[in-house]
Amino acid sequence: MRPVRHRSGETDAQRPTPGDAVISLRGVSKWFGSTTILKDVTFDVPRGKTTAILGPSGTGKSVLLKNIIGLLRPDEGEILVDGEAIGPMSERDLFRVRRKFGVLFQDGALFGSMNLYENIAFPLREHTRKSEREIRTIVHRQAELVGLVDHLGKLPGEVSGGMKKRAGLARAMVLDPEIVLFDEPDSGLDPVRVAHLDELVVTAQRETGATFFIITHNIPSVMRTADYLGLLFRSRLVRFGSKEDMRASDNPVIEQFLSGKADGPIGMDEMAERGDPLPSQELPVTA
Ligand SMILES: Nc1ncnc2c1ncn2[C@@H]1O[C@H](COP(=O)(O)OP(=O)(O)O)[C@@H](O)[C@H]1O
Ligand SMILES: [Mg+2]
Repeated sequence: MRPVRHRSGETDAQRPTPGDAVISLRGVSKWFGSTTILKDVTFDVPRGKTTAILGPSGTGKSVLLKNIIGLLRPDEGEILVDGEAIGPMSERDLFRVRRKFGVLFQDGALFGSMNLYENIAFPLREHTRKSEREIRTIVHRQAELVGLVDHLGKLPGEVSGGMKKRAGLARAMVLDPEIVLFDEPDSGLDPVRVAHLDELVVTAQRETGATFFIITHNIPSVMRTADYLGLLFRSRLVRFGSKEDMRASDNPVIEQFLSGKADGPIGMDEMAERGDPLPSQELPVTA
């Protein structure tokens, strides 16, 4: 059967619908004191795909991620994970929902005194009652996936930045999470190591079938890894769509950001720090 093609040119298979959304944000706003960080952000993260949220530094990408895992709460709007609103949840339910997430933090967040094997095994020891033998099998499988089998005995201080990231990824995936979140996975890596990590991200996503959610400002990297993109700019989500849809967009903010040009609505200050929130009527095009 031929897939249904929508006016936007997307087929049903490419079109994110709330029905197959694993994470949904509905009108999420977040502010600290009088500073608005996120304003009325709405999008659905399609299940089993890789989604990246892009934005200049300081736009609130990490704040967004913390709201999704319930470390921060939105001031307005709601966030649903697998259709469950996490806002009104008790700590206990929130804990249950958090188990669906594996997180790769910016610096890998490995324990410096534990070797890579123990770092990767850590969530299994904390959250499961698996035997040493089962743990060994799982850790080895993960290490194989990220190419670290020969380095498991080393301490984080003895390996390269790229290897630390890979160990962080193995640890994020060791409980077989439904969703893997990445906060700027490229940070501190040279472009070649980023390209290698991206290959690994694509392979790992394909092998696990999990939903990968990446926040970053690295355009070449997300062009390799992501199926869907969202762009945050001056507190608002300018647009969310498939990578092809975003690439074809003639919205000046999207064009400038995706091409990395100095010329356009995004000023130098905004690349470094926050501007005032963009009034919604000023958004050139919305999704
Ligand atoms: N807990 C907090 N309290 C007050 N301000 C915060 C807090 N967390 C983040 N911010 C501010 O929110 C803005 C967005 O931060 P962040 O999400 O870290 O940006 P990025 O897009 O670079 O990840 C920054 O101006 C930061 O200073
Ligand atoms: Mg950040």
